[in-house]
Amino acid sequence: MTDLTTTYLGITLKNPLVPSASPLSRNLDTAVRLEDAGAAALVMYSLFEEELRAEEAMMDRFLVHGELGHGEADSYLPDHGTYRSGLDAYLEQLRHLKEHLEIPVVASLNGVSMSGWVELGQELEQAGANAIELNVYHIAADALQTGTAVEDRYVDLLRKLRASISIPIAMKLSPFFSSLPHFVKRLEDEGASGVALFNRFYQPDIDLEQRSMVDSLQLSTPDEVLLRLRWLAILRDQTRISLAATGGVYSAWDALKMLLAGADVVHLASSLLRHGPGRLSQVLAGMQLWMEENEYESVQQLKGSMSLGKLADRSTVVRESYIRVLNHFTPPPGVDF
Ligand SMILES: Cc1cc2nc3c(=O)[nH]c(=O)nc-3n(C[C@H](O)[C@H](O)[C@H](O)COP(=O)(O)O)c2cc1C
Repeated sequence: MTDLTTTYLGITLKNPLVPSASPLSRNLDTAVRLEDAGAAALVMYSLFEEELRAEEAMMDRFLVHGELGHGEADSYLPDHGTYRSGLDAYLEQLRHLKEHLEIPVVASLNGVSMSGWVELGQELEQAGANAIELNVYHIAADALQTGTAVEDRYVDLLRKLRASISIPIAMKLSPFFSSLPHFVKRLEDEGASGVALFNRFYQPDIDLEQRSMVDSLQLSTPDEVLLRLRWLAILRDQTRISLAATGGVYSAWDALKMLLAGADVVHLASSLLRHGPGRLSQVLAGMQLWMEENEYESVQQLKGSMSLGKLADRSTVVRESYIRVLNHFTPPPGVDF
């Protein structure tokens, strides 16, 4: 019998497949279906800093106007007895998930500024979160902001959250750091228990007719696995913290490659959104079959066995393979040049 267990953020999981933050966790029935399909843990959709701020501002406005005692305006006041903030709704969903699921639940905080919201981590911990994923979804779009300042933003938020909770923290990162291994080491030193690689940045398109920017959310494709494989393989032996792979996993083969490169867990979102929760059991069954056929006894044996190891000259190895692929390019059939 193949041993599929893995350790993520210091938590033992029955297998490496974990649905990542997405609307799938908004619905209790869907979460239960994911557990039934074999999910080993569940990352909740994010609680966004901006949602909380908007709500705070709205409450302030109502309360100030209320105190001024404008008769008609008073009728617009929310009923404080029934008013439920985004935070309350999130905590309630977390409690529901904890009540109905046996698998660990990871809460997700998503924001970029330092003023106060990360302290909500305490409430998530008290509501039963087994860990927190902190997603600092930040685009460095200011020519005056240095790379170090971008990194400091992540580290400051991590430090603040680390000081206020005792459960493990995973940082969800973008691929756009000048020296990812150095940055991951910094996060490890500051108390992160893991990193999730990588955030996908949703890229607006241009509508040529209207000449306007159009928000577009494209689900991922398996091509996105390659970027993750590269960085997992580079990072695996340079850090002791957990590595989660997120992006492009649709099949057992995608998941197996992530593990071979060095992931401790493999996240799925787009494939489950596209094909439904049952997709997870197909990926799991395919992994198990492949491992049996290839005589792997455990996920432990598989994990990181194709990382770049402790090679001193990783950059040279990567550069050599870059030159090799360029030099061996052949045009597609029927194309002459
Ligand atoms: C519809 C949708 C909603 C998402 N919501 C969140 C979110 O709330 N917080 C977050 O950190 N990531 C969120 N993500 C990103 C996913 O968790 C995941 O990291 C990303 O989609 C890459 O994985 P995939 O290729 O398996 O989709 C969302 C993705 C999708 C498609």
